[in-house]
Amino acid sequence: MRAVFLSTVFRCEPWAQALAPHCSELELSDFPVVGDPAAIEAALVWYPPPGALGMFPRLELVHALGAGVDHILADPALPRHVPVVRLIDPYMTAAMVDYVSLQVLRLHHDDFAYRVQQAASVWQERVQPSAAARRVGILGLGTLGAATAARLQSLGFDVAGWSRRERRLPDVQCFAGRESLGRLVARTDILVCLLPLTEATADILDARLFAALPKGAALINCGRGGHLVETDLLAALASGQISAAVLDVFRSEPLPPSHPFWHHPRILVTPHVAAQTHPPTAAPIVAEALKRMARGERPANEASRKHGY
Ligand code: OXD
Repeated sequence: MRAVFLSTVFRCEPWAQALAPHCSELELSDFPVVGDPAAIEAALVWYPPPGALGMFPRLELVHALGAGVDHILADPALPRHVPVVRLIDPYMTAAMVDYVSLQVLRLHHDDFAYRVQQAASVWQERVQPSAAARRVGILGLGTLGAATAARLQSLGFDVAGWSRRERRLPDVQCFAGRESLGRLVARTDILVCLLPLTEATADILDARLFAALPKGAALINCGRGGHLVETDLLAALASGQISAAVLDVFRSEPLPPSHPFWHHPRILVTPHVAAQTHPPTAAPIVAEALKRMARGERPANEASRKHGY
């Protein structure tokens, strides 16, 4: 089985090593050294070099090496007939759940304010509401959103979620469809974005949505930078409508050094690390997809071109 590794951000070597024990028949070539392009059946992809996805006439499968496939589906070189498989790795799900829990707890315990107090040597207790009194709203109830909702619920928070399609989750109030977004937002003190980036969700975190949150709500964005209208967030922070934001994803990554988010006292920036891809745990999942392809079976976790994720 011949596959090509196409990434401008990941190195092929750790993947080749991690995949070897799970797929001994795999020959993985590191683009652009691929030999005969017509021999390549699968591509392992994360931010591929421009045009590369269009160079393999017998490509049967594209496997993403990260969670969100927006950039792959939007790649003009992606052949229309080839299935794109999303990477759903329980290791990454657990990492995302931990990251969001950490940030929700940070906001819940007023960490931003205590840091400011410490810088000014101020010893002052702040009122600490119970977790049950803190309403967390999660945008996106897919694998990551549902697991995050369950953890936050188990930590005692009042959790609700919103998704395109109707979902049912134990002890989590679920809203579905664009028309119910306002209801989720109106009952949310900490808003967590875990949506896929699609035409329907681009710019969803905008001035209108911020105005619909209770005053002083906080934002955590682990979806995509394209969900957030950055100038609207800065305005909402300036007016106090939003009290703080934790941002892991950005319109432009790496975040340019001159970007105002870096030094904003009410913004915490992390460099797109909430759920990092982990080759040792991802490799058996990717190998299974390659084996299914070799058996002529439809892949599991195929992205929907219609819905964009
Ligand atoms: C992503 C990832 O999709 O890091 O952003 O996996």
